[in-house]
Amino acid sequence: MSDIKTVAVLGAGTMGSGIAHVFARSGFNVLLCDIDQRLVESALTKIRTNLGREAAKGKLAESDVEAALARITTTTDRESLSAAGFAVEAASERFDIKTDIFRALDRILPADAILATNTSSISITKLAAQTTRPAQVIGMHFFNPVPVMQLVEVIRGMATSDATFSTVRDLSVKLGKTPVEVNDAPGFVSNRVLMPLINEAAYAVMEGVATPQAVDEVFKLGMAHPMGPLTLADFIGLDVCVDIMRVLYDGLGNPKYNPCPLLVRMVDAGWLGRKSGKGFYTYE
Ligand code: CAA
Repeated sequence: MSDIKTVAVLGAGTMGSGIAHVFARSGFNVLLCDIDQRLVESALTKIRTNLGREAAKGKLAESDVEAALARITTTTDRESLSAAGFAVEAASERFDIKTDIFRALDRILPADAILATNTSSISITKLAAQTTRPAQVIGMHFFNPVPVMQLVEVIRGMATSDATFSTVRDLSVKLGKTPVEVNDAPGFVSNRVLMPLINEAAYAVMEGVATPQAVDEVFKLGMAHPMGPLTLADFIGLDVCVDIMRVLYDGLGNPKYNPCPLLVRMVDAGWLGRKSGKGFYTYE
């Protein structure tokens, strides 16, 4: 692991930019790649703002902000990732998109490079099988907002080697995170437990048991959650929540994982949560 100096991050959305942020902050050179130049540029603006927040709180010196930014190179050309000794993919949650990226990384990156995915629900074992190096494929699941959340869920696929696991565990510590090891199963641990909570909260609203505000107050005040489950659902994206429920349903085959009809209707209406301006709450 000591010789990993350059990391490729594929996907410059919320998660990809957060992942690029924490690697650059920890001294790694980062190649941040997406298909559209505007996406990588807006990710860089977001990273600058969030590093600035950390500097304003005294967690970083101003010079560290500039040094971290200088370590990030943006690109739209996957071929330019050949210098990376490690890659984290944080593209859309679609198996076809991830397969395309993993096949390209397998071809372009050095033979000993590890290919990690930030997927929240897709099988690591299946993705690994798309490459010629399944022992070097692993799940490295970060949480939003990545610079703040302590956890990295490290997911072993069926073929993941112990060496790959140790490298990613040590790398997570180097990023200031706490790795937790889990095996490859639908939703891993985080989403297998979190999504049914959100789904049940949506049922409580649909059945008139309580308002979204009341449901969230119960969890904030009664269970010390920083956000209630419906505020969190808006933060994650209701479309993402429905997609993950479907992965749980398809993978585990139990009707309890069926997405709540209210959630499905909201997504059909384009009410996706914070990113669309409306979900259980309205955003400016
Ligand atoms: N970058 C850097 N710092 C950030 C940040 C960002 N993007 N966002 C927030 N912060 C910092 C703030 O500067 C602040 O720092 P201090 O504590 O030093 O003051 C701290 O985080 C708290 O932020 P705020 O004061 O602005 O707001 P808050 O106290 O309401 O906390 C929150 C915001 C951290 C998001 C908190 O509400 C929280 O922890 N919510 C739950 C988030 C959660 O559950 N995330 C997981 C989602 S599931 C997922 O990601 C995976 C999946 O597969 C679906």
